[in-house]
Amino acid sequence: ISLNSFNTFALAANCQQLIIAKTRAELIAACRQHQHDDVPPLVLGGGSNILLLEDFEGTVIKVENHGIKLQQTESSYLLAVEAGETWHELVCYCLRYQIPGLENLALIPGTVGAAPIQNIGAYGVEFADVCDWVEYFDMAKQQVIRLSAAQCQFGYRDSVFKQQLLDKALILGVGLRLPKHPQPKLSYGPLQQLPADASSQMIFDCVCATRREKIPDPTRLGNVGSCFKNPIIAADEYARLLGEFPEIVGYPLATGETKIAAAWLIDKAGLKGACYGDVMVHPGQPLVLVNRGNASGQDVVLALQSVRSKVYQIFGITLEPEPRTYAATGEKRI
Ligand code: EPU
Repeated sequence: ISLNSFNTFALAANCQQLIIAKTRAELIAACRQHQHDDVPPLVLGGGSNILLLEDFEGTVIKVENHGIKLQQTESSYLLAVEAGETWHELVCYCLRYQIPGLENLALIPGTVGAAPIQNIGAYGVEFADVCDWVEYFDMAKQQVIRLSAAQCQFGYRDSVFKQQLLDKALILGVGLRLPKHPQPKLSYGPLQQLPADASSQMIFDCVCATRREKIPDPTRLGNVGSCFKNPIIAADEYARLLGEFPEIVGYPLATGETKIAAAWLIDKAGLKGACYGDVMVHPGQPLVLVNRGNASGQDVVLALQSVRSKVYQIFGITLEPEPRTYAATGEKRI
């Protein structure tokens, strides 16, 4: 079965079996049915953060359970959202009902169930800021478990689902807690131009315009957004780099470390527009790799490794891939 239309990079990989589960019961049944498979099932949401390097030898479970429930307390809106909902549609739903808090996260591709895994984030807000709980089916314990936001151990593009619970959890739904009167988050780049009392709609429009300008539309040009994390480096290393490259773009973190713009490193390395087979470093936002047409898994590996080694040669910084890369029998770090 072809997974071509199930991954936004549009890589032409196949799988043995594909289960499209439209309810929680179907999701849990699929997990039970495949719990003893030699190759653990691959759980797929929107397929917008995954690079399929070759054909997958196991079963793919596509998450398509739907539903949004809205409740409120005196101070907050509480949303319970099924994992198969589309993230951007949830953002639009909130805008429509005048529930502020998600507008900075507009246009992030993918599903609600995928959001906690890598703690999606953009324009100064991340999933962790709005998360109340996450409910998942534990494949080892064979039961439904609800974790509080703290138990999810969110970090920069990281959570318990990429660590201890890797390959053990199928996320069924999430709970969001959105305060009724939040301060708009306007600290990031283009949002700084907005007035301090900017409405959710204004933020939403600004974020959508910025993203549309920088990140290609995956339905036109296959991509999975950023292909590397922004590296976090120690103060002394930052001081060394600043000496050599005074224009380097870095953001200080509360820990004393600095988060470096990987886009700047790749740009400075002269790799904008570089091609590796049919994979190209996007000229508009070099953190994004795009599929020029018939990219193969090998082209992707070559591109990731070449960019990483060039950046390391020049800056001594090792870039880590941001999307998850899968080989025939499961996730493979490259
Ligand atoms: N830059 C360059 N050259 C370029 C483009 C950018 O030097 O051609 C420098 C600029 O100085 C710019 C800086 O890189 O200010 C940062 O660029 P941008 O604001 O586009 O953000 P980013 O750090 O590259 C991150 C996330 C994005 C998210 C944006 C906005 C990661 C890995 N990526 O990108 O998330 O949308 O911030 O918040 O953290 C994703 O994860 O897939 C993703 C798209």
